[in-house]
Amino acid sequence: MTPIIPEARANVRLIDHPLVQHKLTLMRKKEASTNSFRRLLNELSSLMAYEVTRDMVTQEVEIQTPLETMTARMIDGKKLVFVSILRAGNGILDGVLSVVPGARVGHIGLYRDPKTLEAVEYYFKMPKNMEERDIIVVDPMLATGNSAAAAVARLKVCGPKSIKFLCLLTCPEGINAMYRQHPDVQIFTAAIDRELNDHGYILPGLGDAGDRIFGTQ
Ligand code: URA
Repeated sequence: MTPIIPEARANVRLIDHPLVQHKLTLMRKKEASTNSFRRLLNELSSLMAYEVTRDMVTQEVEIQTPLETMTARMIDGKKLVFVSILRAGNGILDGVLSVVPGARVGHIGLYRDPKTLEAVEYYFKMPKNMEERDIIVVDPMLATGNSAAAAVARLKVCGPKSIKFLCLLTCPEGINAMYRQHPDVQIFTAAIDRELNDHGYILPGLGDAGDRIFGTQ
């Protein structure tokens, strides 16, 4: 088993809310149907969105209640971009957008070379003015960390204000890989599993997230 680098562990925010853990357990079960896997991912993503947006900047605005004028806090959701790592990242988008509907969305397509497990980019589409935005990269699985770190490196070229990484599951190898290449990126996850197998799958894990979301097994 690979130990987690202590400084890398400090960059990980484990979301251990009972509702998150319960839904994750249901998703891990091999008998979960495509329909319920997708529904649970949607629910889990919206719950995790609360944690990953916890430090979003708010601005004071003056509003009128039915009784009087007051100063209240609001976020500028448009400044936030969720970047989905295709294709499994798309399974997280509906849930997070239900909580921050004004957020923008970017897509990055990377595939894992089956032999080297290295990331190869095939698609990249982002909103304008990325230098004014905070990015939350979404992908259900942070496994080898190769595609995640490659996505973050590509996004850094756009000069965003900040980058966070939101996943359901990760493992020591993924956490260490992200930390070695991007020590400035915080990871938000519902679980840190035991290890990667020789094919780059997380154990005990939940299998191939993309196949389970889209029913393509
Ligand atoms: N991607 C997946 O979908 N599952 C894993 O376990 C690892 C990477």
